Amino acid sequence: MASVTGRITCLGDNALKRANRAASSAHKFQLTQSTGGTLRKYRVPFQQTPPTWQGRAFITPGESAQAEEAAKGSRSGATSAGNGSATGVTWKCSIRSTAPLLGDTGARLSIVVIDTHSELRSAVITLDSWKPPKEVTRSDGTVGWLREGAITLPAELKDPGAVLVRKQAEKNGAQSQDYIDSIQLVNASSVHTINANSWVSSEQGWRVFFSGRAYLPKDTPPTLLDERRKELKDLQGTPETRLEERKGADRIYWYQEYNDLSSGKTGKLVRPKLGGSKQLPYPRRLATNRGNEPDGREKPPAKGQKFWLQMDDRFSFDKSSDFNGAALEGSLAAAISAIAEAANAKGRSPITLLPTLVIGGVRQVLGTVLPGVESPLENFENFKDVLAMFKKASGPGFKAILPTNLYPADSTNGASSASNNGSSHASSAFKSVDGAWDFQLPEEEAAKIDEHTAEMNVGPVYDSATGTPANTSRSFAAYDSQPGATRAKERLGKRLWNVATGNSPRINNLLYFTVPRVLDGRPDAWHTDEEFGRQVVAGFNPCTVTALKDLPESFGSAIRGEHIEADLQGSTLEQLVDAAKKGAKPRLFMIDYWDLSAFWEAAANESSKGMVQHAGRAIFYLRHDGKGHDKGLIPVAIELAHPKTHKENPDLPRTAGIVYSRAELSKDTATLAVWRLAKMIFKSLDSSFHQLISHWNRTHCVLEPFFISMRRNISVMHPVHKLMAPHFRYTLNINANARSSLINAGGIIERSFSAGPYAMRLASVVYGKYWNFATEALPEDLKARGMVDPATGKPWLDYPYATDGLDVWSALSSYFDKYLRLYYTSDKDVLDDTELQAWWAEAKTEGHPDLLRFGLRQSEEQLWGFKGPIPSVSRLVTVLTTIAWLASGHHAAVNFGQYDFSSFILNASSLVRKPMPAPGDAAYKELTTARARTSQEAIMMTYLADPLTAATVSATVKLLSAHARDEHTLDEDNELLVDPAAREANEGFIAAMKRLETDIEMRNADAANWARFGLADRDTAGPMPYTLLTPSSQAGVTMRGVPYSVSI
Ligand SMILES: [Fe+2]
Repeated sequence: MASVTGRITCLGDNALKRANRAASSAHKFQLTQSTGGTLRKYRVPFQQTPPTWQGRAFITPGESAQAEEAAKGSRSGATSAGNGSATGVTWKCSIRSTAPLLGDTGARLSIVVIDTHSELRSAVITLDSWKPPKEVTRSDGTVGWLREGAITLPAELKDPGAVLVRKQAEKNGAQSQDYIDSIQLVNASSVHTINANSWVSSEQGWRVFFSGRAYLPKDTPPTLLDERRKELKDLQGTPETRLEERKGADRIYWYQEYNDLSSGKTGKLVRPKLGGSKQLPYPRRLATNRGNEPDGREKPPAKGQKFWLQMDDRFSFDKSSDFNGAALEGSLAAAISAIAEAANAKGRSPITLLPTLVIGGVRQVLGTVLPGVESPLENFENFKDVLAMFKKASGPGFKAILPTNLYPADSTNGASSASNNGSSHASSAFKSVDGAWDFQLPEEEAAKIDEHTAEMNVGPVYDSATGTPANTSRSFAAYDSQPGATRAKERLGKRLWNVATGNSPRINNLLYFTVPRVLDGRPDAWHTDEEFGRQVVAGFNPCTVTALKDLPESFGSAIRGEHIEADLQGSTLEQLVDAAKKGAKPRLFMIDYWDLSAFWEAAANESSKGMVQHAGRAIFYLRHDGKGHDKGLIPVAIELAHPKTHKENPDLPRTAGIVYSRAELSKDTATLAVWRLAKMIFKSLDSSFHQLISHWNRTHCVLEPFFISMRRNISVMHPVHKLMAPHFRYTLNINANARSSLINAGGIIERSFSAGPYAMRLASVVYGKYWNFATEALPEDLKARGMVDPATGKPWLDYPYATDGLDVWSALSSYFDKYLRLYYTSDKDVLDDTELQAWWAEAKTEGHPDLLRFGLRQSEEQLWGFKGPIPSVSRLVTVLTTIAWLASGHHAAVNFGQYDFSSFILNASSLVRKPMPAPGDAAYKELTTARARTSQEAIMMTYLADPLTAATVSATVKLLSAHARDEHTLDEDNELLVDPAAREANEGFIAAMKRLETDIEMRNADAANWARFGLADRDTAGPMPYTLLTPSSQAGVTMRGVPYSVSI
């Protein structure tokens, strides 16, 4: 026996967090890590002469030749100095995993070590004779395994540049797999850590994991070049294999059209293919190749199976747990709200329903509860009934969210002023004094629920009283795997196990929706014109407003000066449009959603739920105080049309609708309801456009092909891969989830938004008309919409999304520039980079092929900003910054405010069920002659989402607005970077993100910033700071935090 002195890396808290996130991440690329950090020496006694691991007991005869080949390498002259070699040196080898779920803890592994600088590689080393793995518990509670042993490497092998790993099948031939975090090789003088962070499976053959250093293809050490190429070939597959059905541990990436949105073979749940035609162009998705039905639609996954995903692209356990937990929580809240409404409507107490629902529902988990609930009640009764969906966690209770200023005191329709007590609506029998649901459970039932919910850890994800998540830690809980757990329990993890078995606490959190921030502390904000205008620049869909530089009649609108000039502070429509056209600061703005009318006749014929798709546009005026200060945006006219509008008004062009003028309709309470309803219906268009276009199309959907192309064409050793990989983390998984339950036929989007079965076809049409990569760069986007002064690039007005977004953009751009120039010393280097150029070419021609192929764009320049290969470092910076911006800032701005703006249907109803009344028709008369507060509200509720839809949408957007505990936000480092200069560039970026947090706080505290601080005219509402582009966030629904990637 002899001793060898080795070293291990002691990870500090941040490093631990990084390591654990990486381990937990399903985005398990080959991470890289230097051997730096805090090191301490220790002595490790181990055998100088390796034991019996020279044997290859687990390599079958058929595999033997392959293993030999791996050991020899593919180039001639490779030498092997393996076990027992006279020139061998003993190293300590440690293989670590932090995610043992589903794995078998490091058994049946073989490795080959490859040198960086010579063509030396070790013999095949099998690890089975090592001692059984140790269970490792980190300080944050994550549990994993560690296997250690001695290996002999050729004496000349000084700098391991890669390790080949193979997982052997079970003795009976069954598939076997392990998650490997890192492989550490230690000799007397050096420590080499090769981070794998990947699932290895017996179905994958030899896998290669490289050391962390980044190399352009031309700079790759020759000894690693073949492995670099072979790894990409494995991921590309062949023209034949990439079209085979993807299964299990496959790793081949390819593209496919959206031919899998149907949920049935015939009838109402069949949807046309998106992509591959001029009529329905679309980006491509990850190919799964399950085989097609005779009409070309891809078969759905087999019963009980999910969409295929490469194992490393899947959600981590924690991410899955958070996602499923939140989904469960939300669906129960939705179901309970709906059942409570039903009981209310039928005059029954829900007491008899509740225990069964909760206890049974918890056991059933998501997917069983909501489908079992029929729409119980057609309409909310009034505004107060909607507000009763929400409950404050603490504080003054329900009254705090009731408006006090909803109706003018001089109402002509009998509305009482200010008082909340004037409502003739009797509170539901089962509502408590403060209006929240009051379930008086029998003591026995209550105890049963307590008992069954004692340890649930899925909520609450948001605490409206403090604005912070109740679960304030993003560290990992120690529930992933428990010693002695049964197989089933280990697979589920303790947390989900407890949920599935009904052993969970905080049942109250399942019964209510927390108060959304648009309402919280500002009960009189949501119904004002000022708030309506404020949300244009600081709401959940802040990227559609344009400066108005043409008269409305020029694009077919019916809006004229007479409709709006009473609100223009002495100016005329022509004057303001003319001034803006000549380059002066615009004061009129517009949002145009006329494209949503593309399928409205067909949609009207098919609608089974009374969904009505409107087309609409709104014009906004930027008010000023006469002294050069802006006071805020207000809507001055809303133009709406629906399929019947043109039948009833044959002279009206298809491009025009009925104009609703703020100045005219706000004069008295009778017509104020019409103006409010027009705003609500317009906002529902905003909600649809937001979900389908600003959110799904412009982030989730368009980014997927860039990632597919990156995996196929850019090696994990490439500096661009290391830079961009964090920006695609979890995107494939969340998009697969969306295809299986959100955007599919009969999914939540179709059920909850007015376009119904045409929703995704609208998304395709808008992609075909407008999407250009060139104008997805934020500065170009703002320029194209006329929202910035071209001389300065700064927004013309207080536009929080743009101001904060431009800071994120410019920090990303500077960082990318600095980083990329570490590797590319000239533009020629970029042009000569075969991997990079293959990525770009394939993303365009295979990932986004339709727009040019079908002549929907005039030129490559129009679509992509330039023709052909990426010509320069600066152009590469713009390309990569655009992708990173869409994945981070843009997505965060449209994603993490969803719950706080759109769960409250009076602010943004996803659904409209009746056509907007027009002057002269019966519906208009009914609304304008009804009593305010009671009858008017009841009528308005018949136009908006029904309670079940409202609850379903609230549950969904709550789920989508939550950060998981293992979220990776822009203020955190990119752990894939190990080159010191690269790390320094990354640290500069993180410092910029931290500065931005302070800047945003200061902007939010400046009362001159009307869009952040409060309302310009009425100060009855509390301020609502703009936090959606604040980089950091804790877990939960925090309405802040910019993750690197689209992951929810
Ligand atoms: Fe999202």
